[in-house]
Amino acid sequence: MEKDIMADIKKYQKAEKLKKWRDEVQPIPWYFDGLENLCNRIHPEKQILQVSDIQQLSHDTKLYRFISANPNKLLAPFRAGQYIGLTVEINGVRTSRAFSLVSSPNQLAYYELGIKRKEGGFVSPYILDNIKVGDILEATEPMGNLYYNRIFHGKDLVFIAGGSGITPFISMLRYISERMLPLNVWLIFGCLTEKDILFREELQDIQSRRLNIRIKYILSEPESGWNGACGFITKEEILNEIGSADNKYFYVVGNRSMYFFIEEQLKAMGVPRHRIIYEAFGVPDDITEVMGWPEGIDASKKVNISVEFIKQGKKQKEIFEAQCTEPILNSLEREKELGLEINNSCRSGACALCRTKLVSGKVFVPPEVIIREIDQEFGFIHPCVSYPLKDLHLDLT
Ligand code: FES
Repeated sequence: MEKDIMADIKKYQKAEKLKKWRDEVQPIPWYFDGLENLCNRIHPEKQILQVSDIQQLSHDTKLYRFISANPNKLLAPFRAGQYIGLTVEINGVRTSRAFSLVSSPNQLAYYELGIKRKEGGFVSPYILDNIKVGDILEATEPMGNLYYNRIFHGKDLVFIAGGSGITPFISMLRYISERMLPLNVWLIFGCLTEKDILFREELQDIQSRRLNIRIKYILSEPESGWNGACGFITKEEILNEIGSADNKYFYVVGNRSMYFFIEEQLKAMGVPRHRIIYEAFGVPDDITEVMGWPEGIDASKKVNISVEFIKQGKKQKEIFEAQCTEPILNSLEREKELGLEINNSCRSGACALCRTKLVSGKVFVPPEVIIREIDQEFGFIHPCVSYPLKDLHLDLT
């Protein structure tokens, strides 16, 4: 028995010695650096972009072309339909917004973004009025789930766009058309008036060259002389265009009110939820109008938010006042002297980049935002879409 044990120990020691020898003499696998470089290329922590061109797309929208500000750093690849978060500094407040990539992923010499002015907005008017060729801006890596997945989406795709929601579809159509992918695509594009139809010439050109791509415009406030469809993107208009919803995959991009309207139409058509991708950036214009907003909480109510964070290696705590009708992330960015930043990209509760520990307090989240169960269980919130209803304690450490 003792002999057997000794034999086992010897065997083990020999194996260990051999392993140690192998570890010492074997070089780091040849692919290690390659993989690391590839990962950094696909998922850079941030990208530094330079504006190389600006064009007026319509009365309220401009097209911005960006190249990498560092000639040795290539732009991260992306899937047609994805977006990047673009950071700007406005009067000392560093903030960012998500914008869909318009350019085709078939080339990575540049990215293009179509940015529409949001009246009364904080970021888009600033960009349209101030950003010029040569300016340098920080951006996230490309993100988002709105892209074609050939395994799950099939071959019949319906794109439903409202206004500037056309931007990710331009990238997808460019990609499909350039690669001559054997897909059937119906684009239903709703706008207010003819002058709001972005990329119209390019869309006509794609349609004239590709039989598998059909485009329908629907105007809700047409001016005289418009001979096309009028009104909203109803179930009837969709079915007129696509025939039947069977085996089709739906992508919907537009503002929040369009999101709810189209959701009803698709439900009435019997489209199962798992055959629809929605993307609606941003938060409600007036959160107090959103279903579920607690009665009796006045728009003027202010709360105290205490944040714990690490600065210069030390744990610190600060308290600031915030409006209950403003997302916590916006309020925190406004407190510029704190110099605190929370990573973010989509600012609509989808990417989870901003997840933050809520130690105590109560927040309101619009009902359409889906927070992962695990985040809920461990008390994490998405401050980009969370509104403080009571005094809060956040842990940013
Ligand atoms: S920034 Fe994407 S979830 Fe908050």
